[in-house]
Amino acid sequence: MDELRLYATSTFALELTVKNQLKDMGYEITSSSDGKVEINGNFKDIARLNLWLRSADRVFIKMGEFKALTFEELFEKTKEIPWENLITKDGKFTVNGKSVDSTLFSVRSCKSIVKKAIVERLKDKYKKEWFEETGPEYTVQISMLRDIATLSIDTSGKGLNKRGYREAPVVASLKETLGAGLVMLSYYNKERTLLDPLCGSGTIPIEAAMIAKNIAPGLNRDFACKHWPQIDKDIWKIAYQEAYDLIDRDIKLDITGSDIDEEAIKCCLKNAKNAGVEKDITFKVQALNDIWIDKQYGIVITNPPYGERIGDYPTLNRLYLDMDKIFKKKKGWSIYVITGDLKFSSFFKRHYDRERKLYNGNMQVRYLQFYGEKPQ
Ligand SMILES: C[S@@+](CC[C@H](N)C(=O)[O-])C[C@H]1O[C@@H](n2cnc3c(N)ncnc32)[C@H](O)[C@@H]1O
Repeated sequence: MDELRLYATSTFALELTVKNQLKDMGYEITSSSDGKVEINGNFKDIARLNLWLRSADRVFIKMGEFKALTFEELFEKTKEIPWENLITKDGKFTVNGKSVDSTLFSVRSCKSIVKKAIVERLKDKYKKEWFEETGPEYTVQISMLRDIATLSIDTSGKGLNKRGYREAPVVASLKETLGAGLVMLSYYNKERTLLDPLCGSGTIPIEAAMIAKNIAPGLNRDFACKHWPQIDKDIWKIAYQEAYDLIDRDIKLDITGSDIDEEAIKCCLKNAKNAGVEKDITFKVQALNDIWIDKQYGIVITNPPYGERIGDYPTLNRLYLDMDKIFKKKKGWSIYVITGDLKFSSFFKRHYDRERKLYNGNMQVRYLQFYGEKPQ
């Protein structure tokens, strides 16, 4: 297989950071829509994308796209796709699905039709009647959107947020992909001071340090497609070598994460060690109102607790007021806050320069950006 149509998915609004990263990696974007960015590529690119994409959820190979108004159409057109190019004789394959605004609205039926059609195709091609499905995994996705069926194979396996560094989940931790996205949407760069004063399990400081040191986020995890015989071992060897060579090991970073909760900070230390950035971040147990800012310029990226998830309202309001007090006169500090609490702006009085709508899990949240003066 030479040229493949590949796409990366992300949560709503993070397609922007996926797009920017793909462009930085030298790819031309062929199309993009909410939560989806498409490029053309080959097996080498599949390895690179899985290893490197920081804010994407998964990488897919698009196998076919067509209009389907009846199950017969769905079956016949699915059967025309050369699945045998990827799915091996012993391949284990499951079908996932979704349907939005489509005549074929029953996801269960779509999945079962697609599975049947692929089995029929493979029977024909492999001259076999029965498939043991004991080999590598190929997860097929049927996605119906306004009567257009898109059939794809998931190359990532577990979501790309699962970097492999997180020990035990801390309450209300951000997904690693969202943490990376927040950093990528900010003006942070490796020369700047970064502080997360409510750092929880350390997602934001850890993702920032990995970005600054150019550590590929997928280095310590597995991918479904790593077990596919079609992708030569040498392709992986080269992709991993490239990723190791590109790590900036000598850089000195100024990143601090603090939290009032001692257990959370213990967790940060373990996570940072697993991610290979324990020497690059200072973590400390500290209440927000004990923070003393002595630098003229810096960046705060933080995720305060908010009502629906954790914290009671008077305590939260107090916390926002404390933030306001600490940063009121810090004109050289840019503050980035991800919050689902609409009252945040009533207590943190600075006027935000930009607001983005993002999703934290299923919850719509706002990413408020308050720009400070640029360092001279
Ligand atoms: C939503 S969580 C942050 C989650 C984090 N972004 C992560 O991905 O793990 C908010 C954090 O604020 C901390 N916190 C609450 N009140 C605080 C205070 N007054 N001072 C410092 N930390 C506080 C909590 O302990 C909690 O870990």
